[in-house]
Amino acid sequence: MEFHGKVAVITGGSTGIGRATAHALAERGMKIVLVSRRADRLDATAQELAAQGHTVLAIPADVADASDMQRAARTTADRFGRLDLAFLNAGIADGGSLLDLDIEAWKQTIDTNLYGLLNGIKAFLPALRDTPGASLLATSSGAGVHGVSYRTAAYAAAKNAQATVMESLYGQLKDAGIDLHLGVVLPPLTRTNLAGDDLSYWERIEHNLAKAGLPPAVVEPEQFAQVIIEGIINRSFWIHTTEDQAHRLCDGRTAGTERRTAALLNARTHAMLNDGTPDDYLW
Ligand SMILES: NC(=O)c1ccc[n+]([C@@H]2O[C@H](COP(=O)([O-])OP(=O)(O)OC[C@H]3O[C@@H](n4cnc5c(N)ncnc54)[C@H](OP(=O)(O)O)[C@@H]3O)[C@@H](O)[C@H]2O)c1
Repeated sequence: MEFHGKVAVITGGSTGIGRATAHALAERGMKIVLVSRRADRLDATAQELAAQGHTVLAIPADVADASDMQRAARTTADRFGRLDLAFLNAGIADGGSLLDLDIEAWKQTIDTNLYGLLNGIKAFLPALRDTPGASLLATSSGAGVHGVSYRTAAYAAAKNAQATVMESLYGQLKDAGIDLHLGVVLPPLTRTNLAGDDLSYWERIEHNLAKAGLPPAVVEPEQFAQVIIEGIINRSFWIHTTEDQAHRLCDGRTAGTERRTAALLNARTHAMLNDGTPDDYLW
């Protein structure tokens, strides 16, 4: 994608990976639309970008609310008249245990991560599908493709579902002859606000990794944002840190885990591309 002068919507753009990617895209000349719930954080990021001379629009909205996402799409169209990239990245990590009675945390996690993605697709796909060179990205997680992360069951279930939605969208767009780049973003452990505002959480994670004899594989959002930019340029479906990128962009920290991820994704992609389900039979 040629970035300059084009328009990107980023859900979950106020902090963490969304914020870092907003900066990286704006530096390449994109006009940025930030979407998230808390207006103070949203405005703070919008002001950072504006102070650097970038064009930015902040839309407070909840991705779990379909009408909020439709409003965000209309506001973007009214202001900029085009859309080239939707980065559907908003997410929360919660869920509790399956052994307690609480179901609310599950609902919130599924509503934000899964329905948030679906609402974003329904709202932004119409503008993207006929725009040459456009991309639609969704942030899933290693927890969505590696197999079971049973201690964070609701999160893992939602992240798995996100990957499945994006694989299905890939197939459905292909059947419809629509050439839109789709990407599933798989961040490594990244120092963001995902586990709350106390960032010392990530030091504890690094400490625990070291105790288990593993490398301190937590990266900065700015490092991972470069991986996302390269994923857009290369029109990759699975956007994760390759071994080469781990060494080039992330101090080599995640090289080992990424080697294993690549093998898994390779097998998953072959299964997806070779899907010979007979449409007229059971499905
Ligand atoms: N950090 C990691 O290690 C890691 C690893 C794998 C995957 N991920 C994924 O990366 C994505 C970005 O998370 P992050 O790590 O950058 O965490 P973060 O710093 O907490 O960012 C999350 C963003 O999503 C927004 N958000 C949350 N719920 C929302 C809702 N219902 N509607 C609109 N916006 C909402 C937040 O703002 P408001 O709360 O103000 O709405 C914030 O802007 C998530 O999908 C996460 O699951 C992160």
